Amino acid sequence: MIKGSTDVYCIFGHPVSHSKSPQMHNCAFQKLSIDACYVAFDVPPVNLKAAIDAARVLKIKGLNITVPHKEAVMPLLDDISDDALTIGAVNTIKNEDNKLRGFNTDYIGFIRSLEENDVTIKNKHFLVLGAGGAGRAVAYGLLTQGAFVSIYNRTIEKALNLANSFKHISQKINVIDYIKSIDDYDVIINTTSLGLNKDDPMPIDITYITDRNIVCDLIYTKTQFLESASKKGCKIIDGKGMLLWQAVYAFNIWTNLTPSVEDFRKIFSKNW
Ligand code: ATR
Repeated sequence: MIKGSTDVYCIFGHPVSHSKSPQMHNCAFQKLSIDACYVAFDVPPVNLKAAIDAARVLKIKGLNITVPHKEAVMPLLDDISDDALTIGAVNTIKNEDNKLRGFNTDYIGFIRSLEENDVTIKNKHFLVLGAGGAGRAVAYGLLTQGAFVSIYNRTIEKALNLANSFKHISQKINVIDYIKSIDDYDVIINTTSLGLNKDDPMPIDITYITDRNIVCDLIYTKTQFLESASKKGCKIIDGKGMLLWQAVYAFNIWTNLTPSVEDFRKIFSKNW
């Protein structure tokens, strides 16, 4: 039951009705007997500043920020963690004495989802398809773990920008302007939006893929890309793990507590 002293947490996105975050965080608050609730707010871009102002006025304790606001929210905050600054995106905000501090838990969430699937990262070769916000978070996470990362993107300038902005973290990053073979890569990761719609083309020609590749897609559902890779005998990993783990890390930033990962997993298995 919501009382006068109940802490409020929320997510801002547009659209946001599909979000599983309210279910995950409310479940964790209840299990850990924390007097708090978490709600989803559909915030169109034109209202983002007003919504952040409202979060301050209403003393919202913590926020998640999702598509399309992860970059636009940054100038509206009081402080941003170094990793979120380097990635150029914030997905988690903590309100400390009415100072809003931005974090990025997407990249750690992605790394954790690889680890739980027993994927070795250090010194392995990763091909990252896409150089948008999601591609940046993935590439950053991989570089911090000692991987070799190649970026392939439709717009090569964005791939080059991404690589340049991470060169101070690791020299193990390069850009490729066309794909002739993927024999050299251990893991292929689709971070583009291709696959969200069923008529989308594959992010790369599937004939290149062999059963020695591990194939990941940040999209939560089993995309055609993953299905085709699975039929070729590849190990496949969808985006649910990243989504789950980014929530675990966000909850921990807000409360210093760790929610039950198994409860979160149950929420996913019921809804997909
Ligand atoms: P997100 O935050 O989800 O990463 P984004 O920043 O808009 O979203 O990035 C979308 C990514 O999908 C980009 O890498 C984009 O390629 P461009 O940089 O060339 O735009 C990629 N993408 C989207 N539609 C695509 C398409 N039809 N073909 C190839 N790549 C596509």
